[in-house]
Amino acid sequence: MLKIAVIAVVIAVVTISCVHTVNRVLMAPPHIAGADFVGSESCAECHGDVVAGFSGATHSWLQNHDGTEVGCESCHGPGSLHVQTGGALQTIVNPGRSPETCFNCHLDKHGEFRLAHSHPVIEGHVSCSDCHEPHKGDAVLGRGTSLASANDTCLQCHSAQRGPYAFEHEATREGCTTCHQPHGSVNNKMLTARNASLCLKCHFQEHRAGQILIGGRDHTGWLATGTCWSAGCHEAVHGSHVNSSLRF
Ligand code: HEC
Ligand code: HEC
Ligand code: HEC
Ligand code: HEC
Ligand code: HEC
Ligand code: HEC
Ligand code: HEC
Repeated sequence: MLKIAVIAVVIAVVTISCVHTVNRVLMAPPHIAGADFVGSESCAECHGDVVAGFSGATHSWLQNHDGTEVGCESCHGPGSLHVQTGGALQTIVNPGRSPETCFNCHLDKHGEFRLAHSHPVIEGHVSCSDCHEPHKGDAVLGRGTSLASANDTCLQCHSAQRGPYAFEHEATREGCTTCHQPHGSVNNKMLTARNASLCLKCHFQEHRAGQILIGGRDHTGWLATGTCWSAGCHEAVHGSHVNSSLRF
């Protein structure tokens, strides 16, 4: 069993030199004033369905550095007051309302969501739990089941890319994330690459007699006119209703 100590690991120390302020970012569950950790079992009484599904979830392995399990409280904060009050809302953290809880431990993700092209998670328009399942199974929704369901996560909001198309681009069967970073990217439209290399990882490029062939056709002049998906070439990159070369 994978055991990971997550509490009180100092992962970043930022020093603002002029005022000597030390801002310590702790890899830790949320803090709730006056509350203590009670363990996941005490949640079962009222949230039995969530607790029952939790064993085997990505985050069910989390534990304190002293070996005690943290479980539910790693995201929801210490639950003693919540339990004592019979479930008062203000006594427990709901990370569905803010990604800050997730950033406590996934600090690198904070940076990804601040890249120039990113999902508006920090702005509150998209939530981590739109694409991640905190309570059961794999935390990445759809992963390991089938690609169709991984794509469904994206298509529930981006219905324009759903198809069906008369001329499908088989690349979408490899998953939206073959071409898009799910969190954010420096590239336009959150693409994994900004130029022809996005396409050439699957489409073989051949140099013959001074020509550059892609898909068996001479692309020598075209490659200089823009990206493969602009300049009037393959603009229907997700699939086309009219053109087998994904032109429109
Ligand atoms: C005695 C019953 C009881 C116990 C024990 C209990 N809860 Fe709750 N919990 C509730 C009730 C009631 C609500 C409010 C449901 C509602 O109004 O929608 C709630 C709501 C919540 C919410 C949603 C809060 C929000 O702002 O939306 C979370 C998260 C939560 N509980 C987590 C936990 C965790 C974690 C534990 C174990 C540490 C726990 N609960 C133990 C009764 C309980
Ligand atoms: C990885 C972080 C994480 C862990 C661990 C976690 N939760 Fe949650 N929980 C969330 C998020 C995120 C939401 C908000 C879901 C949403 O908005 O769709 C949530 C919502 C809830 C709610 C509110 C009702 C709901 O489903 O929206 C309850 C109750 C709850 N969790 C109980 C639990 C219990 C009990 C455990 C342990 C068995 C647990 N959680 C473990 C992240 C977590
Ligand atoms: C207390 C620290 C902690 C909190 C809070 C936390 N995580 Fe995690 N998370 C981890 C650790 C540690 C792992 C690695 C677990 C493993 O590999 O088994 C992980 C794994 C993941 C993974 C899967 C990574 C992979 O490569 O398979 C996702 C997705 C994820 N977390 C999302 C979230 C989201 C969304 C939230 C907020 C609702 C959240 N986490 C809150 C510590 C945390
Ligand atoms: C738009 C959908 C989406 C949103 C919103 C999202 N994620 Fe993800 N995330 C994904 C997908 C898809 C993957 C899997 C990427 C892969 O397997 O290539 C992933 C992977 C991860 C991983 C593991 C792999 C890695 O990149 O380290 C972590 C951790 C994670 N996400 C955390 C978060 C946190 C924290 C939030 C919210 C602050 C969040 N994600 C919001 C879609 C999303
Ligand atoms: C909960 C809804 C939601 C989910 C799920 C979602 N997105 Fe998004 N996506 C958005 C929003 C909102 C924007 C920002 C739109 C804007 O700024 O005009 C966006 C923007 C984008 C953009 C950039 C569009 C542009 O004009 O720059 C791409 C590409 C994208 N998403 C791909 C994905 C992929 C791939 C997934 C699955 C891993 C996914 N989305 C899941 C809501 C979602
Ligand atoms: C073969 C690579 C590739 C795959 C696979 C792919 N996309 Fe794209 N996507 C692109 C390119 C290239 C653009 C930019 C098109 C442009 O700028 O006109 C784009 C643009 C987008 C946009 C922005 C559309 C707009 O009008 O601005 C969204 C949203 C999007 N993709 C969602 C998805 C979703 C959802 C999936 C999975 C079903 C997916 N993409 C799969 C290459 C891909
Ligand atoms: C994940 C692999 C993958 C990626 C990445 C990819 N493709 Fe494809 N593409 C395919 C497959 C597979 C086919 C169908 C077999 C074929 O025609 O080679 C296809 C077919 C095509 C076709 C139709 C060829 C025809 O005339 O029938 C065009 C045009 C095309 N892709 C353009 C692009 C462009 C532009 C990009 C970059 C934005 C791209 N592809 C990225 C896998 C990929």
